[in-house]
Amino acid sequence: ESISFSVPPEFKTRTPPYAALLTRLEKVREILNRPLTLAEKILYSHVVDPEEAFAGKNGQIRGETYLKLNPDRVAMQDASAQMALLQFMTCGMDSTAVPASIHCDHLIVGHDGAEKDLKASIAVNSEVFDFLRSCGRKYGIQFWGPGSGIIHQIVLENFSVPGLMMLGTDSHTPNAGGLGAIAIGVGGADAVDALTGTPWELKAPKILGVKLTGQLNGWSAPKDVITHLAGVLTVRGGTGYIIEYFGEGVQTLSCTGMATICNMGAEVGATTSTFPYTDSMKRYLRATRRGPIADAASAANNIHGYLRADTGAEYDQVIEINLSSLEPHINGPFTPDLSTPLSQFGEAVQKNSWPSKLSAGLIGSCTNSSYQDMSRVASIVRQAKERGVKPKVPFFITPGSEQIRATIENDGFTDVFLGAGAKVLANACGPCIGQWARDDTTRGEVNAILTSFNRNFRARNDGNPATMNFLTSPEIVTAMIYSGDMAFNPLKDKLIDANGNEFMLEPPQGDELPPSGFQQGDPEYLPLIDPKPVQSAEVVVSPTSDRLALLEPFAPFEGRELKMNVLMKVKGKCTTDHISAAGAWLKYKGHLENISNNTLIGAMNEETGEVNKAYDFDGTGYGIPELMIKWKSEGRPWAVLAEHNYGEGSAREHAALSPRFLGGRMILCKSFARIHETNLKKQGVLPLTFANEDDYNLVNGCATIETLDLLQMLNNSGAVSGVITLKVTNQDGSEHIIKTKHTMSKDQVEFFKAGSAINYIGSLRRH
Ligand code: F3S
Repeated sequence: ESISFSVPPEFKTRTPPYAALLTRLEKVREILNRPLTLAEKILYSHVVDPEEAFAGKNGQIRGETYLKLNPDRVAMQDASAQMALLQFMTCGMDSTAVPASIHCDHLIVGHDGAEKDLKASIAVNSEVFDFLRSCGRKYGIQFWGPGSGIIHQIVLENFSVPGLMMLGTDSHTPNAGGLGAIAIGVGGADAVDALTGTPWELKAPKILGVKLTGQLNGWSAPKDVITHLAGVLTVRGGTGYIIEYFGEGVQTLSCTGMATICNMGAEVGATTSTFPYTDSMKRYLRATRRGPIADAASAANNIHGYLRADTGAEYDQVIEINLSSLEPHINGPFTPDLSTPLSQFGEAVQKNSWPSKLSAGLIGSCTNSSYQDMSRVASIVRQAKERGVKPKVPFFITPGSEQIRATIENDGFTDVFLGAGAKVLANACGPCIGQWARDDTTRGEVNAILTSFNRNFRARNDGNPATMNFLTSPEIVTAMIYSGDMAFNPLKDKLIDANGNEFMLEPPQGDELPPSGFQQGDPEYLPLIDPKPVQSAEVVVSPTSDRLALLEPFAPFEGRELKMNVLMKVKGKCTTDHISAAGAWLKYKGHLENISNNTLIGAMNEETGEVNKAYDFDGTGYGIPELMIKWKSEGRPWAVLAEHNYGEGSAREHAALSPRFLGGRMILCKSFARIHETNLKKQGVLPLTFANEDDYNLVNGCATIETLDLLQMLNNSGAVSGVITLKVTNQDGSEHIIKTKHTMSKDQVEFFKAGSAINYIGSLRRH
């Protein structure tokens, strides 16, 4: 078919390579020879070599086959971008292999309103922002500065496109699925794979189909689809799955509403979520000045329905939701899967002794700050104003982007909100990520807040563990602030107007898109569409900074058998939180030496039962990182022994970077959590498991361990898993030969030899 996907030059880097993707998809179809779901089509058409990935697998792909993927784009937020870029810099490349963007949003505190807050946050974080800006300039990465907006909203407005596959260094990256993309949240080292053009590996997810029928009405909103679904699936129900929506109800949703639904798929642990191509996506693309991209997407969709599931495609699981009968939901406190339909919420408040009074209402964030959200909220605020009623509790609004802020100002909504006493915060994460300088409550004071955000772990918003945080749609948050009563149900309860008369709020009304178009706002915030790398640009890192430090590449493997000492034996559960604690340490995300002072401080010493205690040869006790630093300065490589599922929890890459930085060469345990094991391999640490678990008991602290056949394994370049033999000499002179297992692939052997995956990738790029 002679269909053209060509777009004007300024749209090129923002349009998926449809022609190439469709060609690859044809190959996939030939091999798999069965109907495909939408998520499969997008994902599999980004596989580097379909032949290698799928041939001979007998169709057993989902949940089993590792896919090597070529993502189209990368987005990074300011907190996680620091380590991603520091690692990227060590590869020695002049520019990124795929288009990328940096977004300054997480480090901005909400307190007094946008203008003052932004100034104050820039003052405190300027060295981090300057570093990120300089990286953007040097490597040709779009830099969206503080105040420009929240990563996911900007991605939706500018980069997300049906059929795109992208990575983002933030867990809510799946928001882009509202525009039909496959967008996955990852850690920095994974982002570096894409930034350097190295295939990124993912075990093919299973596909959970959610069939939507009917149409939302009255007070119900897209948010209720996902707050309801979270209750059905629970926080782990989506693990290992992509959630793919389908059914005639999909066509009734706005593009931004679908983004809200995809955004919170992260709350059920899903790899990502996505929607088939709809007219509302087309309208959104045009409204955000991307008409030619909409045309290209339509053309791609016309070829065998690329942007929707094939007829007869099978899902691993299907859940059906009837939008027509879906009622508003409120989820929480403290977990997003505690879902209560609004009609039962008053009763739940009583039964659980949750506070009966609301203390604050917050709307916006990356989850819910679309034009549609804001216009529907404005319709409620206007009704209240007509009746002379003011909110009973503080009301905060965080616009998701400068474009949204400028558009709602232009269309009069901002005046409506300010007239009601609302505080409009900066276009940034603010209270959603604990950056809320709240002064109306004290720490420990039990109180209830309602937000239209996505996550409600304890202390997430205001740092107060006693604040009960409930998630719901912006419409319901807004209705509730006029009552102040947690049991209020706007569908049936009345408010009292200024004259003492009872009245009911009408269901909200709003526009999907701004009738007079989106305003771009302050042009200062707009980066160049395709910034060219400036090789002469200097990356700004102050040598005296305690927040940022350039990374020195780890030394390559020395080419001889390893000899090291056991720094400690860890007892029991050891998650990435035990290995690399978060909280106050997050400040040092860009400074490996400083953050490494937290290494394994949560781990328990098997020999003494103490936490954060390890012992030197002469019996002197040290904090674990202190002993690591001492041994490193003495040129003494070390190993840590551990039990089952070492490194469970998050993909936190500092849990592998810090041990490596402090001289760790090997982690020997009974079993690993898979992502952490991969992270160790990426950083050049040898991850081994006991062939016989009981051998854990044969090794003592300070024992000397020598590898006997590591070289043989490394030289056998076809190795994928195998046995490595260790000689253990305990301090009491007892000796043991023990067998261990490794799972290093061919590539991972090369990572180890080079010193790290980044070193290896860097050497490939330079040659
Ligand atoms: Fe920011 Fe909260 Fe979204 S932290 S990216 S607004 S989830």
